[in-house]
Amino acid sequence: MKEQARQARAENRVAGLVTTMGALHRGHLALIDRAKQDCSPVIASIFVNPKQFGPNEDFSKYPRAFDSDREKLEQAGVDSLFAPEEPEMYPLSFSTYVNVEGLSDRLEGRSRPGHFRGVATVVMKLLQIVQPSFAYFGRKDAQQSRIITQMARDLDVHTEIVVCPIEREPDGLALSSRNAYLNTEERKAATVLHRALEAARSELAAGVRDALQLQAVLHGTLGAERLARVDYAEIVDAESFEPVVRVNKPCYVLLAVFIGKTRLIDNLQVAPREPGSDELLFHF
Ligand code: PAJ
Repeated sequence: MKEQARQARAENRVAGLVTTMGALHRGHLALIDRAKQDCSPVIASIFVNPKQFGPNEDFSKYPRAFDSDREKLEQAGVDSLFAPEEPEMYPLSFSTYVNVEGLSDRLEGRSRPGHFRGVATVVMKLLQIVQPSFAYFGRKDAQQSRIITQMARDLDVHTEIVVCPIEREPDGLALSSRNAYLNTEERKAATVLHRALEAARSELAAGVRDALQLQAVLHGTLGAERLARVDYAEIVDAESFEPVVRVNKPCYVLLAVFIGKTRLIDNLQVAPREPGSDELLFHF
């Protein structure tokens, strides 16, 4: 992969990288499509990164579908697939980690200690191996995208990080490899995340700006779903990911909710139409 990437650079080509853990769905493929608009070659990686899973998390049962993933990538017109084995990425002597401080401690980081250290470390390695001009990440994982952008800035990475919109099912459920864990009943219940975000959006559109009031609306919708257990439901500043008191600057409404045993995340991006304006724009 390093040799191929070096060759592409020598030819002054603009390489684009899409990193994944496989079990590919339309969300991943949208990143590939976007990469193909800007870049050639487009490189996809598949690596279920053990370092970003906690000891009691789903590393061993995380869906793996290498053959069908490879077909999907070929059909999508990806030029190269990088799918390293664990010892290649983490030989026994491996001992260097990337920790994006502060941003990694909250929300996902608090619920999943060590998670973002694993993510930042593997993404840094993938960026070093491929050295792409652009790398594409999904806003579905808003905090992850923010942390990777910060890491690239702090460590002078020669790659522009591009954050792309969330792909959803027709009923609003954000696409996720973990949706495969849901049974029929849970799959229906899982729409509650989107319904809660929609409820918050409608309050915001009606002029509500108070974060506590918005959180109450989120908990009201989520609490009505028998199979849902809220991990967090917060309104945070889009830069710092610190909780806000009022929505008068770019923010995320962030949700992490267990549906049965499956933990799902989703978010709504909210920003004033222009600085100081009371009119809000929403991105689901
Ligand atoms: P994974 O969950 O496979 O996601 C790979 C990329 O696809 C991430 O950038 C993620 O945000 C994006 N993605 C997932 N679902 C999406 C959706 N519904 N719409 C748009 N984009 C979506 O995130 C990871 O893997 C890993 O943490 C990784 C970055 C590969 C590091 O191991």
